[in-house]
Amino acid sequence: MSRLQVEHVFKVFGPRPDEAVRRLQEGAERDALRADGTTAAVIDASFGVAPGEIFVVMGLSGSGKSTLLRMLNGLLTPTAGRVLFDGQDLAALGERELRQVRSTRISMVFQHFALFPHRSVRENAAYGLEVQGVPRAERERRATEALELCGLAGWEDSWPDELSGGMQQRVGLARALATDADLLLMDESFSALDPLIRRDMQDQLLELQRRLRKTIVFITHDLNEAMRLGDGIAVMRDGRIVQVGTAEDILSRPADDYVASFVQDVDRSRVLTARAVMTGAEEQGRHAQTPSGCGCPSVAPDTPLGELCAVSARVPHPVVVRDADGRVAGVVPRQRLVGLLGDEPRAPLACAGAVTAGA
Ligand SMILES: Nc1ncnc2c1ncn2[C@@H]1O[C@H](COP(=O)(O)OP(=O)(O)OP(=O)(O)O)[C@@H](O)[C@H]1O
Ligand SMILES: [Mg+2]
Repeated sequence: MSRLQVEHVFKVFGPRPDEAVRRLQEGAERDALRADGTTAAVIDASFGVAPGEIFVVMGLSGSGKSTLLRMLNGLLTPTAGRVLFDGQDLAALGERELRQVRSTRISMVFQHFALFPHRSVRENAAYGLEVQGVPRAERERRATEALELCGLAGWEDSWPDELSGGMQQRVGLARALATDADLLLMDESFSALDPLIRRDMQDQLLELQRRLRKTIVFITHDLNEAMRLGDGIAVMRDGRIVQVGTAEDILSRPADDYVASFVQDVDRSRVLTARAVMTGAEEQGRHAQTPSGCGCPSVAPDTPLGELCAVSARVPHPVVVRDADGRVAGVVPRQRLVGLLGDEPRAPLACAGAVTAGA
């Protein structure tokens, strides 16, 4: 079952929202509604997010990402459609129940969230628990644990202004984790960071996710970030979701010309990782028996496709993908790599020669 189910959700700002929804359902374009001061921020969005998944919503500025996210925790009520969280329609909850769900089960991490300057890092991380009324000793313990998970052990008693931008963003993440919420909503949480720190935060989030298995909805306008983080990715354009799929789906089978133009300059050999192209869980069982004796080389899940091709070219076997504990996470047969290359005549992979040579 989906942890989060979004069913034909609309959000319209303006004088006659219901009428606007009806017109949109009949095929009116977003721009046609603007004349009477109506903004169709989200139009007929549907998708599901499975427990333990990182679901990325990607789109340009103004495409409706933040509005969509705010409907996922009930901060905004859909004009039409439903948002189900563990099967429960958020709009059907009373104000108190909704506040309860929002403070204990769903956490939000923003792009620029303000740390309280006159509170220690620990007190900042404990803020969500304080709002919940958790006693001081327990909230300090949980905040300390969350800070440690986010790589901030030893900084608990520092002041926010003693921390770098990346570290401050980690405090935000720790604040969200400390509440023990199952669902994390992250709106451009890493967008304000320098590229290197941003990449570091992405790694850290993936590592945390491996251990904690939260359900995460992550908003970004950055394609590379979407591809690195997303188990599933929704591409938004002008309020509509134009494609939902894996990174590989979106690169290899773009739903329309817009998505195709969005991804055309992407260097797949760097953006796609072993995790994105390895065989699915149902096939793994079959292949998982072969690796130990077959001399198959193994790579980490975040190995870029370019490196993967080079490894694959050296041996006749499939490449095994192992997580940090050495467990088999998946397998990449060579045909799969060749298939990925074959799909894209415009931007051949850097490793195309290597694969052909080894095939
Ligand atoms: N409260 C509101 N009242 C009226 N219009 C709104 C409101 N909130 C958002 N909008 C409009 O809805 C559209 C979608 O906005 P939204 O903030 O969801 O986009 P976004 O994809 O998050 O953009 P960005 O990447 O810039 O954050 C925009 O045209 C915005 O102006
Ligand atoms: Mg936004």
